Amino acid sequence: MSHTAPDTPAPGPTPGRPDGRLLAVSDLHIGMPDNRPITESLRPTSDDDWLIVAGDVGELTKDIEWALRLLTDRFAKVIWAPGNHELWTPREEPRQLRGEQRYRHLVELCRGLGVVTPEDEYPVWRGAQGPVAVAPLFLLYDYTFRVPGTATKEESLARAHEAGIVCTDEYLLHPDPYPSRDAWCRARVRETERRLAAHDPSVPLVLVNHYPLVREPTDVLWHPEFAQWCGTELTADWHRRFNTAVMVYGHLHIPRTTWHDGIRFEEVSIGYPREWRRRGHPRGLLRQILPYPEDGKDKEDGA
Ligand SMILES: [Fe+2]
Ligand SMILES: [Fe+2]
Repeated sequence: MSHTAPDTPAPGPTPGRPDGRLLAVSDLHIGMPDNRPITESLRPTSDDDWLIVAGDVGELTKDIEWALRLLTDRFAKVIWAPGNHELWTPREEPRQLRGEQRYRHLVELCRGLGVVTPEDEYPVWRGAQGPVAVAPLFLLYDYTFRVPGTATKEESLARAHEAGIVCTDEYLLHPDPYPSRDAWCRARVRETERRLAAHDPSVPLVLVNHYPLVREPTDVLWHPEFAQWCGTELTADWHRRFNTAVMVYGHLHIPRTTWHDGIRFEEVSIGYPREWRRRGHPRGLLRQILPYPEDGKDKEDGA
């Protein structure tokens, strides 16, 4: 509401420079009833705020739709990259779509809601420091973050089975029509690399992926066997090769900020109730990606 006189220019953002923030969250896991109120509490601070959702909203299509609809009603733009949980084919899901078909179905759902997906043009967010393109990526993993001391995917997987640390993806995330999840990952990496290479290098990128583009963030996992479900070595130099402002990811359920070759990486997960009950939400629910907050450095807890 403006109370200025009719002939006085209304206060507000400079045209073309929204006064909003670029925010991010991931791993809402609303299949867990105690996580629903958290999602319901997510609100922008201005009408111009954008929200990145870096995967693991939930498992069932109706839950994913509920959450994304709620968020699109509140934020000026919502940008989604799929997590492994969205790609599962749960028994309770009415349409038993698998793999690529399931992903395409979710992309169509998002488009119906106006949510930006990895299949769309990268939207440009215009902040005071200049424009950045927000690029949601779908890259999956290829078991190259192997258990130390193992030389192949098979050896690494065997060690995980021995340790009893096996990701549920092995049973619910189907790669159809690809022969394996790693083959699907390699195809996604090839296609995504082509798109990023064609992007105007003068416009910095906010790269959004469910998994970190580098392996180092997985070094602090409680169970090192789990790292093989957390990314791919094929993207290890992408933050250097492409003009990257920030890399946003989730999946690890270890919310923090780290720096790799001078590039900021933000893990923005909420996580499971048993996790946030123990540690709280030390970085808040929504992470401010841009503008980079003045006190950001003080809150960072990893290197
Ligand atoms: Fe998750
Ligand atoms: Fe995940």
